[in-house]
Amino acid sequence: MQQTLREWSRRSAFLKISFYLIEDFIRGLKLSLGKLGTESGAAHAKFSEEESMIYIENIIHSYKTNGNIEKFSGTVAELGPGDNAGVAMLMRGEGCTQIDLVDRYYSDRNTEQQSKIYQHIADKYDLNHLKTTDSWDEQKIAGINWKIGQAAEDYFRQCADRNEPVYDFIVSCAVLEHLYDPLDCLQQMVGCLKSGGKILQIVDLRDHNMFTPIKQELFFLQIPSFIYPLTGKNSGRPNRILIHRYREVLESMKQAGLIDYSILVGSLADVGKIEPPQKFQDIDPEKQRQTIEFVEQHRHKFAQEFKHVDSQDLAVSGIFIDIVKK
Ligand SMILES: C[S@@+](CC[C@H](N)C(=O)[O-])C[C@H]1O[C@@H](n2cnc3c(N)ncnc32)[C@H](O)[C@@H]1O
Repeated sequence: MQQTLREWSRRSAFLKISFYLIEDFIRGLKLSLGKLGTESGAAHAKFSEEESMIYIENIIHSYKTNGNIEKFSGTVAELGPGDNAGVAMLMRGEGCTQIDLVDRYYSDRNTEQQSKIYQHIADKYDLNHLKTTDSWDEQKIAGINWKIGQAAEDYFRQCADRNEPVYDFIVSCAVLEHLYDPLDCLQQMVGCLKSGGKILQIVDLRDHNMFTPIKQELFFLQIPSFIYPLTGKNSGRPNRILIHRYREVLESMKQAGLIDYSILVGSLADVGKIEPPQKFQDIDPEKQRQTIEFVEQHRHKFAQEFKHVDSQDLAVSGIFIDIVKK
């Protein structure tokens, strides 16, 4: 019986991977035909105006407290805003002159609900002057430019190639993990940043329910490396780039004298959220022990690329990246 169950769950993971591969292939075809619609990033569709407000304020609060900044100003790029320009509106309210919203897809949205959310934000933060049309049209909010259909990878490469740094801040929440090439993209972003400018990125390194909760949360690290990238390249599923890969790239830019940076841990496998995000060594030792034990229980099954990665790095399931350009 146990053998049959084990076989069934193994097969069900196999079926899921097959489904993701096919779906990703179809997604690639759709993208090539210019079909950009996605459910990803449609967070606000299910929120009341007040819930949206809290969601947006929490993101701004996280950027500011973890990134040690008092106020946003100047020109900003936000990657993957999803279905709402609320974060950008609050940044405009703080004095930013221009926010570019760069998204590879077009997240599903309810325009009527979005208008209510924008009105709610405008009333609370005195931002009605940003409305340029009779009712809120998010495509026409003053100083906010949507760049839909542009992968961040392409957008920042083209920007860096122009060799004229334009941004004071480049931010994102829950987006880098969806990029097909986040490491190169980070390097291009640095090329687009003015001296003294900041890149602030909240990154969720979990499997985004690809296999959880049916499987344990690190199961996705078991998928062989020649298959895994094919499950999400076109559909934006988690890229499985973990903290050590980000650190490697950031460290090399630091050594080249381009940046200073810090990476804080925002969540751990089997433990959950770490509030506020902090360096691994500063986290409660009991939580450190618990997460390392969890990794070590499973790591013998991980794909080859993770076999030699430190358990501490494999345990990190969410990070906050803070980069300052020199
Ligand atoms: C999980 S949603 C996050 C949305 C929003 N930032 C939030 O906090 O609710 C991920 C977003 O990243 C976008 N995205 C995925 N891959 C991208 C890429 N390569 N370039 C730019 N945006 C991308 C998706 O369309 C979506 O808007």
